[in-house]
Amino acid sequence: MRKNASAVADAAGGPERFGARSFLRDHGVHFAYMGGAMAKAIATEELVIALGQAGYLASFGAGGLPLERVEQAVRKIQARLPHGPYAFNLLHSPRKLHTEEARVDLYLRYGVRTLEVSSFMTLTPSIVRYRVAGLTQRADGSVEAANRVIVKLSRVELAAQFMDPPPPAMIAALLERGQVTPLQAALAAHVPMAGDITVEADSGGHTDNRPLVALLPSMLRLRDDIQRRRRYPTPVRIGAAGGISTPQAILAAFMMGADYVVTGSVNQSCIEAGTSPHVKRLLAHVGMTDVAMAPESDMFEQGFKVQVVKQRSLFPMRAQKLSDVYRKYESLESIPDLERQALERDIFRASLDSVWQETTAFFAVRNPEELVRAQSPKVRMALIFRWYLGQASRWAVEGTPDREIDYQIWCGPAMGAFNDWARGSYLETPENRRVADIARVLMSEAAALYTSHAVRMSGAS
Ligand SMILES: Cc1cc2nc3c(=O)[nH]c(=O)nc-3n(C[C@H](O)[C@H](O)[C@H](O)COP(=O)(O)O)c2cc1C
Repeated sequence: MRKNASAVADAAGGPERFGARSFLRDHGVHFAYMGGAMAKAIATEELVIALGQAGYLASFGAGGLPLERVEQAVRKIQARLPHGPYAFNLLHSPRKLHTEEARVDLYLRYGVRTLEVSSFMTLTPSIVRYRVAGLTQRADGSVEAANRVIVKLSRVELAAQFMDPPPPAMIAALLERGQVTPLQAALAAHVPMAGDITVEADSGGHTDNRPLVALLPSMLRLRDDIQRRRRYPTPVRIGAAGGISTPQAILAAFMMGADYVVTGSVNQSCIEAGTSPHVKRLLAHVGMTDVAMAPESDMFEQGFKVQVVKQRSLFPMRAQKLSDVYRKYESLESIPDLERQALERDIFRASLDSVWQETTAFFAVRNPEELVRAQSPKVRMALIFRWYLGQASRWAVEGTPDREIDYQIWCGPAMGAFNDWARGSYLETPENRRVADIARVLMSEAAALYTSHAVRMSGAS
């Protein structure tokens, strides 16, 4: 029997029907759509507030900022969104565990209830502490987890650690230090370490470049296996990130079983993003293939990479050059004169000695331990090379005029996909791009697309 097309369309519903109901309930949002963090306040307070006021969760880009600046952001966002929704990012860095601890202290002190945590390679005491310190027992005996953890990752092995309850050995240590109560320690066995796992596919910034269609099913399978064993009252939710910037991609992610979707690259080209107008204009013109992997600053010595814009920027090539030199020589002194002069002339535009002086002054304030490590000539070379990588991000954000060619702009193929989709519409120009408007349009169009698929597949006319 042929069905009535409008009845099928009504049944399909609007964008609020996408994703897990529990995501909307637990995060107090209207839509299962999240704006991911962008480091150094590229995801500004304004971005988080604009999305929050429109009923979407967004994460402040706390990574790479001094603690006082993060505190300022907490105050501002809490004043404008006293009842949420908002999240703060906690970026793990193996060499800065004390910084991680200080940030968790700050978030606990201010009652920040949602952390988007990323770059973790394993669980650390501070993140376990954040989760467990928010546990209480309701009158009916069930467990309330007031501190929500959204972890972003791309490895199945790591996902399993976050889907299980916090490890008993770490809880015992926290209990001994008086950082959690005996009741909280007991309740911890009943909750997963993270309520939400964002599966990051081929995205801007840190990425393993995995395709979402391959990664998501493995994570969903793992979640289902663990849920069968653990029987959590609310199963761990799986979100999709990486390449999401069109209605088609959003619909595909939800149809594959994602509980929520996360955008990143597209938001950087918006009015609320904390980067220069020059970068926003550049982003509005990049194509799908105008991105490349390049060495990153924090984990330069370990050879980690990030996805960046390569159109009209020599940054990926120059950063790679520095990485090659670092791997080839044991110290600055062993770099042949001609090669060293080329680096000073083309990349640094300064002598390496003067860069070292600047680097020393920076780390003396921000992280003196690095200067202790720098007694090794190889580490000293790494710190000097990292100066260029760090400055290249700053030049982009500030729009430094004579350094356009060196701008480091984190970005994935999602940006080109969005530009293709928006071409010919008011969203083509960055001056018209507002984060909440883009979220609304993408989600509504995804719902409309779903309706038209549902009508077509039902055989209705
Ligand atoms: C400029 C930029 C900076 C980012 N910085 C962070 C960060 O500090 N912490 C984090 O968890 N994710 C960061 N991300 C990742 C985003 O939060 C998001 O997960 C990702 O961009 C989604 O994929 P997409 O780029 O394909 O949209 C960043 C992404 C971009 C584009």
